[in-house]
Amino acid sequence: MADSVIDHPATRPEHVPEHLFWDHDLDQFAMELDDPYKSVARLYDGPEIIYARATSREMPGWVPTRHDLIEEVFLRAEDFISSQNYSVSKLLDVEWVLNPLEIDPPAHMMYRKVLQPWFQPSAIARLGDRVRQVCGELIDKFAGTGRCEFIGDFASKLPSYIALDLIGLPREMLGQFMEWEHGFMRAPDVMERVAAIRAIKDYLQETIDARRGAPRQDDLIDLIIHAEVDGRPLDNGEVMGMVMVLYIGGLDTVTSSLGWHFRHLARDPGLQQALREDGSLIPGAVDDLLRAYGVTDTGRTVARDLELGGVKMKAGDWIVVPTYLASRDPRHYDRPDVVDPQRKGRHLTLASGVHNCLGIHLAKQEIRITLEEWLKRCPNFRIPEGAAVKWHVQGVWGVSELPLEWDIA
Ligand code: HEM
Repeated sequence: MADSVIDHPATRPEHVPEHLFWDHDLDQFAMELDDPYKSVARLYDGPEIIYARATSREMPGWVPTRHDLIEEVFLRAEDFISSQNYSVSKLLDVEWVLNPLEIDPPAHMMYRKVLQPWFQPSAIARLGDRVRQVCGELIDKFAGTGRCEFIGDFASKLPSYIALDLIGLPREMLGQFMEWEHGFMRAPDVMERVAAIRAIKDYLQETIDARRGAPRQDDLIDLIIHAEVDGRPLDNGEVMGMVMVLYIGGLDTVTSSLGWHFRHLARDPGLQQALREDGSLIPGAVDDLLRAYGVTDTGRTVARDLELGGVKMKAGDWIVVPTYLASRDPRHYDRPDVVDPQRKGRHLTLASGVHNCLGIHLAKQEIRITLEEWLKRCPNFRIPEGAAVKWHVQGVWGVSELPLEWDIA
């Protein structure tokens, strides 16, 4: 069954014009230079859309290389559908799908509404004090030493603690959860990915089963198992798909983003200084850091024979939606490599259209509070001379190791 995960031919399909067929693997291409954003920026000089021999997870498919076309795919939800992604169902061989992520409109909104109250700006603002407290406690453990490994010591912990508390999963399990998550996202071998996602599924199923008869608690698992859609409770598959999407969305995305943002700031002392002197610039900096460092390439299935950017596509084709390519499109952004807190305009890192990121306010709040607390405690932070920064592009693009040092009084 695992072999069926790669279910498209790896050669040029007949309807793909020869000049648009790109005989490369997108992930491999992103790793060719010392920075993946520089690597993929080479695609801005080529066609607006190409058909790659392999995109994420080895699937051949269309790759729009321009911001505006990437946005168009997000917005044309009836033409570019999510309901055939089966990103975990195929690996697990189960009937249910990630929910609401892999549900198309109109049913999509009915499910999204279940979660929405917990993710709206007022609810997220109420979490602010807790985020600041956890953030301060984590930084205080190493601020006085003048050094840390940012990912292990901080970025993998803050967003995960907050997400686990919200979902209703134990923080003590974080090490195991991360191992499973990384196995699912990044293992080179499909059987390892299957084993990791199966372990996550089994754990979540056991937790959900145990919670059904237990006293009510103030967390998302409680909300989901007692939720109703269309006047009926969610069935077990709907519950599993919803808890699973929060696990996957909550554990890796903010960590990955923080890694790139802090690598950037560590190399840009002028920006650090500006933010330290004028804290009102921080929200703008968060937005432009997010803009410059898209981390996901989600995908869609083409619903019917259609055109995008003048290119004919066939029903059933796979198309990736690479937010990291939208990030630096020089036709859309002036000085795309510069992070400018005063920059105006939107970006696609947290998607657009019906599936726009439900965690947007939480993610932005966590990054803003991290900047506020970090800049207070760790002056003039930088990458130590000769230290290696490690990164990966499988699954969510992220930094795996980021050694930092700073001045201590
Ligand atoms: C900087 C961090 C984050 C990034 C870059 C990010 C990115 C994205 C993107 C690109 C999508 C759209 C996927 C698609 O259309 O296929 C999405 C959807 C989603 N995200 Fe996030 N995300 C982040 C943080 C979070 C957090 C913290 C949570 C929750 C704890 C979350 C929960 C979700 C959910 C539930 C969806 C599905 C929404 C729907 O289908 O209606 N995300 N995210």
